[in-house]
Amino acid sequence: MKIEDIRTIGVLGGGVMGGGIAQVCALAGYDVVVRDISDDAISATRQALFDGKWGIKRAVERGKVNFDDAVAAMNRVSFTLDMSGLAGCDFIFEAVPEKLELKQAVFKELDAIAKPGAIFGSNTSGFVIQDLARDVSEARKPVFIGMHFSNPVPTMRMLEVIYTPDNTQDVIDASVALGERIGKAVSLVKDTPETYGFLLNRIFGAARREAMLIVEQGIATREDVDKAMITGRNWPAGFFGSRGGIGKEW
Ligand SMILES: NC(=O)c1ccc[n+]([C@@H]2O[C@H](COP(=O)([O-])OP(=O)(O)OC[C@H]3O[C@@H](n4cnc5c(N)ncnc54)[C@H](O)[C@@H]3O)[C@@H](O)[C@H]2O)c1
Repeated sequence: MKIEDIRTIGVLGGGVMGGGIAQVCALAGYDVVVRDISDDAISATRQALFDGKWGIKRAVERGKVNFDDAVAAMNRVSFTLDMSGLAGCDFIFEAVPEKLELKQAVFKELDAIAKPGAIFGSNTSGFVIQDLARDVSEARKPVFIGMHFSNPVPTMRMLEVIYTPDNTQDVIDASVALGERIGKAVSLVKDTPETYGFLLNRIFGAARREAMLIVEQGIATREDVDKAMITGRNWPAGFFGSRGGIGKEW
């Protein structure tokens, strides 16, 4: 699959992340099919896409998207309760809850219906991509890749593309190109057994552990740790709940 062949995007799990992924793909001109498991979940996604804090309506109000483009994007998104609704998709993002067995099971189901060559991109926060691919057929392993976005997807530009030894260069290139077409800044990360968190979450986790140790050792209070990170490194928020910026604590 090359970037020019990607026309229709599938999203498996239309929650916080899947809804945001659907939105950025639709705004970039792709037809998008979102599969979730209940009518309530689909209604919530539709509502968030249109009227959520980071939804299309607010983007128009903030002058980020013009009205006609917003309407066209909304019309490009459709919803389904059936896995088979993703059968025509060229690139399928997975954004179901962060449970290894659930992800392995949905990928197995997806493997049975997706078209040959369709790329599977998991938005896991940190599971080893090769573990997620455990139950798909050998033919799917080359097209199974990690696509880790940051929340909220419509505004955060980061995208980690996590490649495995099974991926072909075409699949890596198409995944990076798709990320860039939907407005993201791509960092390439090697899938690594027995780790969790790729790049962003590993570094953040290490910093958070150090912050907790500093507090535990009585070196500084939680408030002073947060204040230093917000005022010294321009972080929008600290580890312990303080927030920076105009009208905030500091
Ligand atoms: N929320 C974040 O800040 C964030 C950031 C980066 C990555 N992630 C990762 O993204 C993934 C999704 O997280 P989220 O916060 O969007 O979760 P969420 O709970 O908001 O959404 C998950 C959606 O998946 C649906 N779902 C459950 N089982 C399904 C199935 N079998 N088929 C289709 N849909 C199904 C649920 O109904 C729900 O709508 C997780 O792997 C998470 O670790 C989350």
